[in-house]
Amino acid sequence: MASSAIHAAEPFSNPFQNNFVPVESVQELAIKKPNDIPQRYIRSEDEMPSSTPLPSVLRVPVVDMEKLLLPSENHERQKEIGILSKACVEWGFFQVVNHGIPHSLIDRMRGVVDEFFSLPMDGKKRYAKQGGDVQGYGNLFVVDEDQKLDWGDLMTLVVMSKKLMNLSLWPTTPSDFRNTVERYTAEVERVAQAILGLFGENLQLKSDYFKYKFGEDPLMTMRMNLYPPCPRPDLVFGLSPHSDGDAITLLLQDDQVEGLHVRKNNEWILIQPIPYAFVVNIGDLMEVMTNGRYKSIEHRAMTNKEKARLSIAMFYHPGLDEEVAPASNLVDEEHPSLYKKFRHQEYIRYYMATRLNGKKSLADFARVCE
Ligand code: OGA
Ligand code: NI
Repeated sequence: MASSAIHAAEPFSNPFQNNFVPVESVQELAIKKPNDIPQRYIRSEDEMPSSTPLPSVLRVPVVDMEKLLLPSENHERQKEIGILSKACVEWGFFQVVNHGIPHSLIDRMRGVVDEFFSLPMDGKKRYAKQGGDVQGYGNLFVVDEDQKLDWGDLMTLVVMSKKLMNLSLWPTTPSDFRNTVERYTAEVERVAQAILGLFGENLQLKSDYFKYKFGEDPLMTMRMNLYPPCPRPDLVFGLSPHSDGDAITLLLQDDQVEGLHVRKNNEWILIQPIPYAFVVNIGDLMEVMTNGRYKSIEHRAMTNKEKARLSIAMFYHPGLDEEVAPASNLVDEEHPSLYKKFRHQEYIRYYMATRLNGKKSLADFARVCE
């Protein structure tokens, strides 16, 4: 589609361009053959030892953004900062409440995504991925023919990046799709930047350290995930176990339907939905930049028999040309550099060309063996 015009204008190779293998829409499959799961979706027991998480007393920490934004000497703030720091070091995941994003905007954001997935298949296929671009409607991460598939459909758009945004792929139905996504993106970036400032403070870096490292043209992608009901949720993944390839992710999970599991001490723990909260997690690039003080953690999405589940993930990255490396203040004799430095877009290329497989991408690409 129009992306070729962008490429023609600039000698630039899009790191999000890849040879993805097109696959059938799961939404369509679930309607056509509701009781039949093709073999390609079915996982072995090795891959999926337990589909339901053990009842655990562990809960992903919850932080209150309003308290975090109080003046620095405030006692409540100091307490909350401690919770945040512990969450980053021990979990790599936390939920944020009182973030200040209007609930009406969140409702409408969910509304436009829901309306998009409710379009007839022809309407959605107008936005199907083309020419191997990550952007558009259709599955990601299917990079070879014999790979197992996930029980979910995706729509991915770059919502921030001068080089990569391609408005021709943005749905025009519903008519307020673009306006809603733009407003939502600005709000999510505000919250993400506030969190990055707090990370800087907690790590004894400058509070604008990460803002600076993200550069002048940060990248944000949005992935809308739809997981249709599945007759055998014990046999399939909605989304395979993975860590995110960005710096920080803000996920709006379904308020009504649970399904997100995070790996902690070799157990899978359910992240219970809190209405209007964001699930925030550390991505691979943040693990590198913090020299492993904060870790990207494996997570997965599961399905259920009764209800479709919808989630909206916002992946926030430094600009494509930025260099990613451990912060020099976090490297010393006791903490040698654990990762090589690289140009951000090289990691995108690598991440997109490999199957989702736990933390393998980061380990293979950037981890330095001691
Ligand atoms: C993702 C992700 C979880 C979910 O999109 O990277 O982890 O609950 N999604 O959809
Ligand atoms: Ni993820």
